[in-house]
Amino acid sequence: MLDKEPKTMNMMDEDSMDSISYIFPDNVKPFVNQVAGHEFTKAKPTIGMMKHADGYVLKPVPHPVYGPREINFYKTLETTCDPLLKDLKQYIPQYLGTKTIELDNKDVRCICMEDITKDFKLPCVMDVKIGVQTWEPDAPQEKINVEKVKYAACKKRWGFCIPGFQYYNVTDGSFMRRGKDFGKRMSAQEAIQALYSFVNAEHGIKYGLVASILEQLRKIHAWFRHQRDFLFFSSSILFAYDAENVKLFVDEGESWGDGESSVHNEPDSKISVCMIDFAHVLPNLENKVDTNYLTSLEKLIYVFENLTELYPLNSS
Ligand SMILES: Nc1ncnc2c1ncn2[C@@H]1O[C@H](COP(=O)(O)OP(=O)(O)OP(=O)(O)O)[C@@H](O)[C@H]1O
Ligand SMILES: [Mg+2]
Repeated sequence: MLDKEPKTMNMMDEDSMDSISYIFPDNVKPFVNQVAGHEFTKAKPTIGMMKHADGYVLKPVPHPVYGPREINFYKTLETTCDPLLKDLKQYIPQYLGTKTIELDNKDVRCICMEDITKDFKLPCVMDVKIGVQTWEPDAPQEKINVEKVKYAACKKRWGFCIPGFQYYNVTDGSFMRRGKDFGKRMSAQEAIQALYSFVNAEHGIKYGLVASILEQLRKIHAWFRHQRDFLFFSSSILFAYDAENVKLFVDEGESWGDGESSVHNEPDSKISVCMIDFAHVLPNLENKVDTNYLTSLEKLIYVFENLTELYPLNSS
C-alpha cells in the first residue's frame, strides 16, 4: 500500500538528490519534476536532468556510447524521409538540439528537449519502463544478472516496471513521490495500486484522464506494431498531467463510465504520454517485430483498460 501522508518535500526514497553540491551555470538548475533515471550524486558521480530558464529540459549524455547513440536517434528522426519514422516524432518530446554546459568546471553535453510538464501547476508524472529485457543483447552476463533481478515481481507479471512517479492527491491535496528503491520492491499488485493512485482514481476513476491515456497508448502501439527499424531496450513511457485540471473534474463528480471524456478536450488540460530514453535503442538488423517492447506495451494497455477490476481493494 502507498503511504498517503501529505508530503511537502521532494523525496526519492533512499536516493539522495545531491545537486546542492554542484555549481550550475546561469539559467540552469536541477529539474524538480524528474521522477526516475540518473540523479545528482557526487559519490558515483552521476548527473540528473536540468531545466533551462527558457523552459526546456537538459538531459546530460556523458556516456561515450549511449550519449552519441541517443543524440543520433533524435537526429535521425529530424532528418529522415521515412514516413513511419517521421510519425514517431509525435510520440516523443520535441528535440531541440544539444548544448554543452559547464558543471563543476567540466563540460557536459546535453540533449535539449521540450519539458512535457511545462506550465503544470501540480505536476503528476510517472515513468514506466517498457519490456522484461532491459539489457542489450550483447550485454555481459554480470549486467544481465543485475538487470534480471531488478523490478522482478512487477516485470514478471506485467512486463513493465515503475522506476519512479509523483502525484498530487486531488482529494486531500497531499503530494506523493516514489523513486527506484520503492519501484524495485514493488509487487505486481502494488504496481496496480501505484497506477490507480497516480490517476487519482481512489475517489472515482476520472474517465477523461484514463481515456486520454489509453487513446495515446493505443496510438503508440499502432506505430510500434509496424516499425521494424529499431529494438528498444530500457526505454520508458512517461505520463504527465496537471492535477490542477483534475480537481475541476472531480468537483463535477464525473467518474469512469459516466459519460464522455472531458479532461483532454479542454485546451489547457494536456495529458502527455511520451516515449522517452533512447540510450539503448539499437538497429533492428533482423527486421523482426520488437516483441519485448510490444508485449509489455500491450500489458500496460490491458492494465489501464481494466484498472477498476484489477485494483486490489475492488477484487474479492
Ligand atoms: N522531455 C521530458 N520532459 C519532462 N521530463 C522528462 C523528459 N525527459 C525525461 N524526463 C524526466 O527525466 C527522467 C529520466 O529521463 P531518462 O529516462 O531519459 O534518463 P535516464 O534514465 O537517466 O537516462 P539513460 O537511461 O539514458 O542513462 C524521466 O523519468 C522523467 O522524469
Ligand atoms: Mg530512463
